[in-house]
Amino acid sequence: MTIKIPIIKSKSISEWISDDYRASDIFKKYGIELCSNGDITLLEICEQNGISYENILQELETLKRKNQRHLNCEDWEADRLIYHIMDTHHHYVNTNMDPILHYADETIKIHGDTHPELLRVRSLFKLFVVEFRKHLKEEEEKVFPYILNLVIAKSIGSDKPSGEIFQINNPEKGMKDDHHLAKDLVSKIREVTNNYLLPDDVCNTFKVFYNKLEEFEADLITHIHLEDKILFPKIAELEKSFA
Ligand SMILES: [Fe+2]
Ligand SMILES: [Fe+2]
Repeated sequence: MTIKIPIIKSKSISEWISDDYRASDIFKKYGIELCSNGDITLLEICEQNGISYENILQELETLKRKNQRHLNCEDWEADRLIYHIMDTHHHYVNTNMDPILHYADETIKIHGDTHPELLRVRSLFKLFVVEFRKHLKEEEEKVFPYILNLVIAKSIGSDKPSGEIFQINNPEKGMKDDHHLAKDLVSKIREVTNNYLLPDDVCNTFKVFYNKLEEFEADLITHIHLEDKILFPKIAELEKSFA
């Protein structure tokens, strides 16, 4: 008699990653190497290495439930928006830039000879990281504190806080220029990767690298949209209201 194995138990590492590439973070956390173990089932890997299959399944389930909620940010006050941007998008960027660079290095080690475009992708992403780190620092240390002071001053009816108007609306030197540069760099990455098209027969590390880059781009677009189109216009209005 054949024992029927529940389908989930026969699911390979590659299949888990194909269904949701974010599973790779969980596998790496448990020390499961992605490339050499692609065809082995998760259950087998766990049994061979004394890893708790139930714990991993639970984490994979949690991942499935994590859906991005639609947020109606347009109606939020500037301070709430800033806390949201920092908690969600700045946190995301800060926790993902180094891992993506690591994936770039790993992918180049394996596929760099046959896919020289990977070197260009890594250079572009490195440049992005250097520039965007400066940008985040500027926002967190100067621009956002200034905006929060502005909101407080308005709420208690005091004078407009002193200080520069932080180039928010200055097309030459402001935050928006940094945003243009950041968007240019990610769109060049999209171009070089041919819209993140995966070549045939590449390993899981390559797949995760491209998927992470694509996710990173999506987060960045939302992040910049919130600042350029919602936060900064609110601040321009707020500043005018002091006049
Ligand atoms: Fe930001
Ligand atoms: Fe920004």
